[in-house]
Amino acid sequence: MKKQIITLVAVASIAAGYTMAYAAAGSNGGGIVGSKHDMNVWLGANGGKVDTDLRTCAYCHTPHHANGALEQVTVQVDADPLNDVTYDIYAPLWSRTTQNGSYAQYASATFDPANEGKFYDAMAGPSRLCMTCHDGSIAADAYYGQTGTAALTRGDDNMNYFGSGSFAVGKSFGLMNDHPVGFDYEDMQGQLTRYELKLPSSTFATSTKKISDVLTDINGMQIMTCASCHDVHNGKDVKNTAPASGRGYFLLAPQANSALCLSCHDKNS
Ligand code: HEC
Ligand code: HEC
Ligand code: HEC
Ligand code: HEC
Repeated sequence: MKKQIITLVAVASIAAGYTMAYAAAGSNGGGIVGSKHDMNVWLGANGGKVDTDLRTCAYCHTPHHANGALEQVTVQVDADPLNDVTYDIYAPLWSRTTQNGSYAQYASATFDPANEGKFYDAMAGPSRLCMTCHDGSIAADAYYGQTGTAALTRGDDNMNYFGSGSFAVGKSFGLMNDHPVGFDYEDMQGQLTRYELKLPSSTFATSTKKISDVLTDINGMQIMTCASCHDVHNGKDVKNTAPASGRGYFLLAPQANSALCLSCHDKNS
């Protein structure tokens, strides 16, 4: 499988006429160029249009003419409109169409912020940006206003555990079957008798990052997002460096012994 991908990338590189040698795309630290988030690699292997100038950042950011003149979202928190929360959409010099779809959100008998008068919006913070590719509705090569064809319904990681349809996160079941994002960590952390959560000041396993560093401030709330577990740029913050599967998944702490999960959930004490 791995070999096949390397071959495809190599062929695509020759076709595109550039000589830069990419290793197999990684996600266990080491930077964004050549990583699983280097669209030049992914599009080369999965079809779609590789950037003419071989830019890496351009698929997500642009120095000029960015999308997202400040837009706002209003979230209803409870029956009282005075408690509605209006926040600015986060789109740092974003070169893509921002995702405004709404998704079914995770809830359970023991986790249900929306029904308890707490803020809950899965798209709050950078999560909305991830969905500009990961729900499979906007092609990876659709940036700088151009249309694209290679959507993330394809991918090399078979995650179709319960017939959810594809590799895409947020498709078919929305985000109902995904770890919750878009709530205030401190709303939960405060309820010590109910949840066994670490303090925001505690650090991730093998990292110097604190939980509070990976929560997004929205109107004073400390919001958990996709970026609370993943480093989109595959930088030094990725601490899942030697997973058995060979994938780092851009994770901020190791998978071994579920150090990632135990960084927040105090289940060992
Ligand atoms: C696959 C999409 C993607 C690519 C490619 C990408 N970024 Fe980002 N970038 C993001 C997202 C999403 C955020 C929002 C913050 C977060 O999620 O941590 C972000 C945030 C940023 C920020 C502001 C906040 C921060 O984390 O510093 C800067 C600066 C930035 N990116 C620079 C770059 C540069 C430079 C490149 C190319 C070398 C790049 N990015 C490539 C998705 C991307
Ligand atoms: C420009 C499109 C794009 C954006 C924006 C984007 N991704 Fe990705 N992501 C991809 C592609 C393409 C892959 C590789 C899929 C594959 O392996 O076939 C990927 C892979 C991943 C993987 C799996 C890595 C592995 O080891 O298999 C994770 C985790 C991930 N992305 C998280 C995120 C998060 C979190 C964000 C937002 C902070 C984000 N992505 C934003 C396109 C994107
Ligand atoms: C609580 C931590 C956590 C949060 C929050 C989180 N992820 Fe993940 N994600 C993981 C872990 C761990 C994996 C590795 C796969 C596994 O262990 O099953 C993963 C894997 C992935 C993958 C690889 C394919 C797959 O389906 O497993 C993608 C893509 C991804 N995440 C995107 C996202 C996006 C987009 C968000 C926000 C909506 C998000 N993640 C939020 C922990 C998280
Ligand atoms: C950045 C902190 C953080 C990380 C890392 C994290 N979680 Fe969570 N998780 C939370 C918070 C906060 C909640 C919501 C409060 C609660 O239910 O404990 C939550 C909710 C959950 C729930 C839902 C509980 C319910 O009542 O329905 C489960 C299960 C869960 N996490 C498992 C995991 C697993 C497994 C991992 C590792 C792959 C993980 N978490 C990683 C912070 C985190």
